[in-house]
Amino acid sequence: MTQDELKQAVAAAAIEEVKQAILDGEIIGIGTGSTANCFIDLLAEYRDDIKGTVASSEASAERLKKHGIEVYDLNAVDSIAVYVDGADESNHALELIKGGGAALTREKIVAAVAKRFICIADESKLVDQLGAFPLPIEVLPMARSHVGRELVKLGGDPVYREGVVTDNGNIILDVYNFPIATPRKTEEAINNIVGVVTNGIFANRAADVLLLGTQNGVKTLTP
Ligand code: A5P
Repeated sequence: MTQDELKQAVAAAAIEEVKQAILDGEIIGIGTGSTANCFIDLLAEYRDDIKGTVASSEASAERLKKHGIEVYDLNAVDSIAVYVDGADESNHALELIKGGGAALTREKIVAAVAKRFICIADESKLVDQLGAFPLPIEVLPMARSHVGRELVKLGGDPVYREGVVTDNGNIILDVYNFPIATPRKTEEAINNIVGVVTNGIFANRAADVLLLGTQNGVKTLTP
């Protein structure tokens, strides 16, 4: 199977996981990226059943609306039953790196609200230790240099992601050469740098389930 076929397979498996929540009239949280897009496209089949969604980016909101699926503002909903999203890396504790698509802040907010977080990814994303993928950090524009210097003190190599402005009007620094041995602690340490909006480590709110697309079928991993 190609990587695209693996993404399709995990998206289809995620549909099975959320079907009951849809039929129960629950709100579904929707992630961002190519794997999440496969999920959105399959969700279109349920446009007449689904009460609505909350999207983690403008791009996903657009795609949902094109399919005729209702997208709510997060402040307009009481709860989100389940959040489905991809990842750039997952370790075996289902701690993630996210933000390759620059949507990490809204992703982290929707994941925080959701009762259950289902991560969908192809097998290339599963790693023993996070950090081979450069860690995305969303930063207020005026704090760019300050945050960059602080990240160097933590041992990383921050690089400004040229030409990218997030949905929230901020910039992204990608931190290279930064193996993450203790994800929760590193997540908290980076959050403590003034000017950081969000960092792409999802450890204090890790995934609850990882649906991993492999050549031997979709595997269901739990922490
Ligand atoms: C978006 O900001 C990211 O967190 C994505 O969830 C992540 O980059 C995975 O994207 P793909 O499904 O395209 O690999």
